[in-house]
Amino acid sequence: MALTITPRTGSGFAGEVSGADLAGPITAELAAALRQAFRDHPVLVMTTDGLTTDQLLALAGVFGEPQEQLLEEYRTADTPTVSIIASDQTDARGDGRRIVFGGAWHTDDSYLAVPARATMLYAHVIPPTGGDTLFADTTAAYEALDAAIRAEIDGLRAVHMYQSRRNLNVVPTRSARETALTPPVDHPLVRADDGTGRRSLYLNPNRMASIVGLDDTASDAMLDRLIAHATEERFLYRHVWRRHDVVLWDNGRSMHRAIADYGDDRREMHRILLRGRY
Ligand code: SIN
Repeated sequence: MALTITPRTGSGFAGEVSGADLAGPITAELAAALRQAFRDHPVLVMTTDGLTTDQLLALAGVFGEPQEQLLEEYRTADTPTVSIIASDQTDARGDGRRIVFGGAWHTDDSYLAVPARATMLYAHVIPPTGGDTLFADTTAAYEALDAAIRAEIDGLRAVHMYQSRRNLNVVPTRSARETALTPPVDHPLVRADDGTGRRSLYLNPNRMASIVGLDDTASDAMLDRLIAHATEERFLYRHVWRRHDVVLWDNGRSMHRAIADYGDDRREMHRILLRGRY
């Protein structure tokens, strides 16, 4: 059966791959087709019958080089480039509160000088209902802005940090080593895709502190305005997980948010971050 890509949004922001055996071995031809699909669809859904960790890593390797996430305690022991996001996790180093990873709008790892280019998430256990992930198309959002606002923000940079003054949800407490690895950094507010040159808003509502060169009031007003715009319904894709789905997203062309609406039911995802440049 030939590889088929079905758009999951009218804009093509999300697309779904079918007709390919993703459990491998992945041929060079299939890898090239998958990479093209990801260029065309910044959120790429791949349905599988279940993948082992090795198979998941092989699939991830088609798109980039897996990298270890910052927080060591959520990495798996045998394969540290695969980390676990589960509904029963707590802030073990902090006050023990439950952690909902990614519960507020964000793009992964923007508090690093070189954030993960892409993230792959595998649905290991899904709750009977709920637990969807929302994605926002930050390219369409940028392109829908008035020319005057685009001109105002092109060239601006924003400070991102692990624990920002605008932080929206509980984030895990870092070890001393992890804290030393994550000083504040700054990134462009608008980034051009290295392949197509198309521009996207680069926003992380959960980690941005301020726009460089603006006072907090002006910066907050601009950030609030851009975030509200980028998360309008017209730019969103909602992924309703099926067990063993793999979803890959481009952190430079999207934001995402996990919806923790499943009560005490279990949700467990396996996450791989992929190295890249911005
Ligand atoms: C994440 O924010 O990386 C995970 C999102 C999810 O669990 O749906």
